[in-house]
Amino acid sequence: MNHHTLKDRFGRFHDYLRISLTDSCNFRCFYCMPDGPINCLSSSKLMSPEEIFSFAKLFTELGVQKIRLTGGEPMVRKEFPRIVEMLSQLPIELTLTTNGVLVDKYLDVLNDCGIRSINVSLDSLDPEGFFKITQRDDFHRVMENIERLIDCDMHVKINAVAMSELIESELTDFIEFTRDKPVHVRFIEFMPFAGNKWSSNKVITAAQMLKLVESAYDVVKLRDKPHSTAKKYKVIGHEGTFAFITTMSEHFCGDCNRLRLTADGKLKNCLFGEEEWDLLAAHRNEEDLIPIIDKCITAKFEKLGGQLNTDFQKTDFDAIKNRSMIKIGG
Ligand code: 5AD
Ligand code: SF4
Repeated sequence: MNHHTLKDRFGRFHDYLRISLTDSCNFRCFYCMPDGPINCLSSSKLMSPEEIFSFAKLFTELGVQKIRLTGGEPMVRKEFPRIVEMLSQLPIELTLTTNGVLVDKYLDVLNDCGIRSINVSLDSLDPEGFFKITQRDDFHRVMENIERLIDCDMHVKINAVAMSELIESELTDFIEFTRDKPVHVRFIEFMPFAGNKWSSNKVITAAQMLKLVESAYDVVKLRDKPHSTAKKYKVIGHEGTFAFITTMSEHFCGDCNRLRLTADGKLKNCLFGEEEWDLLAAHRNEEDLIPIIDKCITAKFEKLGGQLNTDFQKTDFDAIKNRSMIKIGG
């Protein structure tokens, strides 16, 4: 097999694939899902479990080592357990990002399939704040499910989208959450996607958040893993850690190893890329996929999909052409 297909013009080798299983979600987070009628993909437009497996296998043969399942919410896909079981047969690290609400239903599947690490999206540690963001009353179920994951010895990362005027009042609660629990909180700088009303003044940067944390705690910097999107810290004496994903204030594209497959089988070379390559249509036509993957990788921009300004204050939201977050999968 050709191991150069996944290397781009800038020498980046893409060994990490994120596969979206569905564009539906049981939550309604405003930063992810646009207002208005929700047009979910019909099942014939979704990749079937067999098609997902076939793509995953191909990418594994090309050198992909890690696959993350995303959504929407991956666990609302009715074939979720079957897909996880199928993918767990491949020689990859398999992981997922979930809102956590259905974890109790699938805990055995996750354990049986050797999933050791999981990202739970959770933007508020207060039931009312949680409701305001998600439009759902599931705060306690999500918190219980996080405990269940910890009890299974999973590596649990908590993704919190950081928006100014919302996160400040919760920073301390999130840091306190790391005191006695082995959880790894990641504050993600608010990013622009179609329909999410992004504006630069809603961004609170990692530097601003770190300053707030440091004013109340003794903080040390930890070493970051290669290709990590997160800059990791911990409060001295706390069991868990915290980190910042600095997409807006300091991009990490130079080290990017990520590819994305949308639930309708389109390959994206960047979270902020406009262009998409239709692997599913090609697969259904029995075409050779390698030249298409090759084109997708070759077209990858050096940074930020060629669309965002490295100075986020200068990014023009209305000029960005992309999907909404729920249709990309994160
Ligand atoms: N900005 C930053 N992070 C976001 N996420 C979803 N939308 C945004 C956004 N606009 C996060 C989700 C999830 C991860 C895949 O990305 O909370 O945890
Ligand atoms: Fe990779 Fe695009 Fe994210 Fe940069 S913005 S790290 S190129 S996915």
